[in-house]
Amino acid sequence: MNTKGFIFDLDGVIVDTAKYHYLAWKALAKSIGIDFTVHQNEQLKGISRESSLNKILEWGNKTLPKDKFMELMKEKNDQYLSYISKMDENEILPGVTQILDYISKQKHPIALGSASKNSKIILKKVNLINRFNAIIDGNNVTKAKPDPEVFLKAANAISIPANQCVVFEDSVAGIQAANIANMISIGIGNATILNEADFVFKDFTEIHQDFLENLIKTKKEELKKV
Ligand code: G6P
Ligand code: MG
Repeated sequence: MNTKGFIFDLDGVIVDTAKYHYLAWKALAKSIGIDFTVHQNEQLKGISRESSLNKILEWGNKTLPKDKFMELMKEKNDQYLSYISKMDENEILPGVTQILDYISKQKHPIALGSASKNSKIILKKVNLINRFNAIIDGNNVTKAKPDPEVFLKAANAISIPANQCVVFEDSVAGIQAANIANMISIGIGNATILNEADFVFKDFTEIHQDFLENLIKTKKEELKKV
């Protein structure tokens, strides 16, 4: 059998936590006199916590001493944690549970590949933690997407060669990371924004079984771009 490895990003793919990141960053930015927009929040998708704060400071033309920077990162995360503490299974994005069911029924391994350091807390909250054979997240990597480190580590953890892995991602940086890793990249979201992906779907309900069957039996090199 042709075994593929399936690697899922978390934020924006499995759950819509972007809204909580947004609220927490907006409050934080406001506390230091910086206005933070939804458009700017888009640019923080897939980006680590530290790089996010650096970008916000850059947009607001501010520099901070190291200890204040660390304090603000903690403040943002405490606020974010208070939002995610209320999460439950209802926040799993449409079609996610079904695709996880399908993949595990076909006995293909599943990994998480996320920049978040809160991934295990979130997966526990939405009761999906047991669905993953490996979890590689912000606690396991030193280089942020578009560096492929997180996906290569995830592939390694499930013992599947990179070119036999399929990555589901909602961020441009994540799609680029999957492409650099020589994996099959599937964008979840807007096709114009995610135009570098091998395939793009609005959400998982648009991914049908015949597409997955074809994906599983075909080599990356032979897959036709849509
Ligand atoms: C994901 C999100 C980013 C977030 C990053 C770190 O990639 O898309 O917006 O900044 O994770 O998340 P964390 O939970 O560690 O602050
Ligand atoms: Mg994401």
